[in-house]
Amino acid sequence: MTKTIGILTSGGDCAGLNAVMRAVVHRGALLGWKVIGIENGTAGLLESPYKVRELVPDDFDGFIMRRGGTILGTTNSRNPFKYEMDDGEVRNRSDEVIAALKELGIEAFIGIGGDGSFDILSRLAKQGGINMVGVPKTIDNDLAMTDVSVGFDTAVGIATEALDRLQPTAASHDRAMILEVMGRDAGHIALNAGIAGGADVILIPEIPYSIEGIAAKIQQVKESGRNFALVIVSEAVKGPGGEKREVVYHGGETRYGGIGEYLGPKIAEATGFETRVTVLGHVQRGGNPTHNDRLLAQGLGVKAVDLIEAGEFGKMVAWQNREAVAVPIEEAIKECRVVRPDGFLAHTARSLGISFGD
Ligand code: F6P
Repeated sequence: MTKTIGILTSGGDCAGLNAVMRAVVHRGALLGWKVIGIENGTAGLLESPYKVRELVPDDFDGFIMRRGGTILGTTNSRNPFKYEMDDGEVRNRSDEVIAALKELGIEAFIGIGGDGSFDILSRLAKQGGINMVGVPKTIDNDLAMTDVSVGFDTAVGIATEALDRLQPTAASHDRAMILEVMGRDAGHIALNAGIAGGADVILIPEIPYSIEGIAAKIQQVKESGRNFALVIVSEAVKGPGGEKREVVYHGGETRYGGIGEYLGPKIAEATGFETRVTVLGHVQRGGNPTHNDRLLAQGLGVKAVDLIEAGEFGKMVAWQNREAVAVPIEEAIKECRVVRPDGFLAHTARSLGISFGD
């Protein structure tokens, strides 16, 4: 019987997912594994016929590994344990997913996901007695046990480039520019891009700010003779009453958003600078993966297959000290890894004169 690995991408997409698949398919072929790609996360197994296709090395030797997104498609809303049917009824369809994985003859599956996806996928694996290995991906970089997750480096690069692009227009118009970035409850994108892109103020959910605190830094910039300022703000930074700002989408789903628009006029009023707000949004998830993300993705993909070959399951491959290791999946999702306000990067920012608005 052919040894078969299933692979799926789950949760929000990011750059580097196709590069993970490339590594899995190549390493798998070397070790005699067939690889079946499952489309749209586990949702592909709830369709009839199942949405699956074999992936082979030739699929990845052209431009696909360089491309953002995921050739398999993904979803961050179709949880099989709480699946919303077309008529609005919510059903537990986990047994159907498990039955499909068994019918496909998969010996193990690789889930490329973040904390929410790993929670769902590892529950499925336990319930069905199915072997699973996780590969961490998230622009938020909030998974524990790994120094970095696939997609983060690209997102930080894009946010840094946005600051590079905002600086000359800010200086041409005597403005304070506010850049709102993603990251959910972790301020890693804002902190990393803020340092790399020369922000004057970095606002992250982990460090409470005040308008006075922001204004004091911008005032200092003005007094130094500089005619512009750059502020980067993480989407989950709280508003005036301590509430996180949210956007409601069609169908009632909410996502973080709106803190930049809230802060714009406040900063203008407090500093006398004209302000403009840029919301970077999903641009951070698209585009070609950086070389760091491609290397990380492929190192982790190879390691995931090596674990399966060795019969080690229930693990997430993680990047630690410049190499791929295996960690228990529950450890990686036990808590959201946020920025440490007393950590070295925060210290670096403060040492550069960057304010957290506190
Ligand atoms: O978790 C990744 C992420 O991009 C977050 O940074 C952001 O808050 C969220 O997903 C956006 O989700 P959606 O793609 O559903 O709008």
